[in-house]
Amino acid sequence: MPSWIFAFFAALAVIPAARADDISGKATLCASCHGENGVPADPKIPVIWGQNAGYLYIELRDFKRGARASEMMAPMVADMSRDDMMALAEYFSKKPWPTLGQKPADDATAERAQKVANSAQCSQCHLAGFLGASLVPRVSDQGFDYLLATMEAFRSGTRANNAWMTDLMKAYSDDDIKALAAYLAGL
Ligand code: HEC
Ligand code: HEC
Repeated sequence: MPSWIFAFFAALAVIPAARADDISGKATLCASCHGENGVPADPKIPVIWGQNAGYLYIELRDFKRGARASEMMAPMVADMSRDDMMALAEYFSKKPWPTLGQKPADDATAERAQKVANSAQCSQCHLAGFLGASLVPRVSDQGFDYLLATMEAFRSGTRANNAWMTDLMKAYSDDDIKALAAYLAGL
C-alpha cells in the first residue's frame, strides 16, 4: 500500500479532534452570558447546558434567519455556518444541566399550573418531567425569569418562531403564565 494512503487516513483521524477544539473555542464566547458552569449570568438568559440538541440547533437557526428576534443572539449567529451551529448544539447538549436552586412552587401555584398544563396537554410534547426531546425543549428547572419572559413573548408575538406556542399562550391569563413559570422553574 503506498505510504500516502497512511498519511491520508492519519489526516482524517485528526479532523474530529481539531473540530472539537474549534468548537470549544467558539463556545467560550457563549460562556460570558450562558455561564462558565452552565448557570446563566443573568436570570433572563436561558440555560443551554444539557438542553436537547435538536432544539438548540433550531433556535440558533431561527436567530440567524431572524425568525426569533434577539439583539443579543443575532450578532452571535450572523456569520455562523450550519455545521458550527450543529456542532455547538451537540456540544452544549452533552453538558450536564446546572443546578439553579429554584424553590418548588407553593401548593396553590402548582395546582393552578397543573390545571393549565392538563388542559393544554403540555406533556404531549414536553413529555414526562417536562424534559422534552429532540426539537422540543426541556422546560423543567429552566430559569423563572426566562420562562416567564419567553412565554409572554410567545403570547405577544415578540417571539414568533412557533405559531403553535403563540396560539396556546394566547388562551391564558398573566396569572396562569406566571403560575406555569413558577411551577416549571421549581420542578
Ligand atoms: C451577550 C450575551 C449572550 C451571548 C454571548 C450568547 N447568548 Fe445565547 N442567549 C442570550 C439571551 C439573552 C438569550 C434569550 C433571547 C431571547 O429569548 O430573547 C439567548 C438564547 C439562546 C438560545 C435559545 C435557548 C432557549 O432555551 O430557547 C440558544 C440556543 C443560545 N442562546 C445559544 C448561544 C450560543 C451557542 C452562544 C455562543 C455562540 C450564545 N448563545 C451566546 C444571550 C447570549
Ligand atoms: C404541540 C406540542 C407542544 C405543546 C402541546 C406545548 N409545547 Fe411548548 N414548545 C413546543 C415546541 C416545539 C417548542 C419550541 C419552539 C421553538 O422552536 O422555538 C416549545 C417551546 C416552549 C417553551 C420555550 C422554551 C425555551 O427554552 O425557550 C416553553 C416555556 C414552553 N414551550 C412551555 C409549554 C407549556 C407550559 C405548555 C402547556 C401549557 C406547552 N409548552 C405546550 C411544543 C409544544
